[in-house]
Amino acid sequence: MSGALYVRDAREACASDGDAAPGQARSRDPDGGCRLAGDGTLPARSEVEARRTGYLVRGGPTKADVWTSSLDSGARVVVKDFSRKTWLVRQWGRVQISREARFLELLDGAGIAPRFAGRLGRYALAMEYVDGTPLYAHPGPGARPHLARLRVLLDDLQARGIVHNDLRGRENILLLAGGEGLVLLDWASAVRLPPGTLRHRALFGALKRVDDSAFLKWKDMLDPSTLTADERAAIQRFRRWRRLWPLNRKGVGWTRTGS
Ligand SMILES: Nc1ncnc2c1ncn2[C@@H]1O[C@H](COP(=O)(O)OP(=O)(O)OP(=O)(O)O)[C@@H](O)[C@H]1O
Ligand SMILES: [Mg+2]
Repeated sequence: MSGALYVRDAREACASDGDAAPGQARSRDPDGGCRLAGDGTLPARSEVEARRTGYLVRGGPTKADVWTSSLDSGARVVVKDFSRKTWLVRQWGRVQISREARFLELLDGAGIAPRFAGRLGRYALAMEYVDGTPLYAHPGPGARPHLARLRVLLDDLQARGIVHNDLRGRENILLLAGGEGLVLLDWASAVRLPPGTLRHRALFGALKRVDDSAFLKWKDMLDPSTLTADERAAIQRFRRWRRLWPLNRKGVGWTRTGS
């Protein structure tokens, strides 16, 4: 995670009002760039798109396209983008993008999520490109420090009243290229119940179990020898429960290869 994400030479920034989501703060910064929500400075969508370097995911009809762009500053960003989808899917995407942008902004600089670069209109957002590999590709005893790191990240999140809610997704945790440090992706399902509030007291204990149970899944997948007897029992309980779930096509729910 570099500090060099933000753009210094944002010539076209603020050029097109169509690039601003309604109500989104935008103002000129001293470099002439357009400071969007978050503290990133991002050129206009046209420039980011002109500098597209490739696709990470070509989303199907209902999923976001995820592409990369190398900006003038040398920063590489990832754009999550619903803008080429049908009208109906764009409305769904708009909600997803708003939710994800909110959490990326909230966690910007915390070392848990990619740095937030800004919104690109209603249907897309940009974030730091994280140079890493999916954590699931690193099983074995060597994964122990990664599991310990993941627990620290989850404790940090939970202290902020945040539940990620989609950590069972195998692709949603990246191990940084140097091998030290994890970054959690895909924040559209996250929930925040601010500590100290009534709703936090009433609901957070139950909600955080979603991430805690995903953490056990990661332990089981990467290095089952790290599981305590209690954790093994919890996994068994979860498997039994999943077998009863009528929408679970595999009937077993929990596998080594996916969620
Ligand atoms: N900031 C990033 N840096 C590097 N790679 C990324 C970044 N964001 C996303 N990716 C890659 O793109 C993939 C898809 O991103 P993401 O999970 O956010 O999209 P999605 O549409 O929600 O996908 P899905 O629903 O299939 O999980 C990730 O699994 C990861 O491989
Ligand atoms: Mg994902």
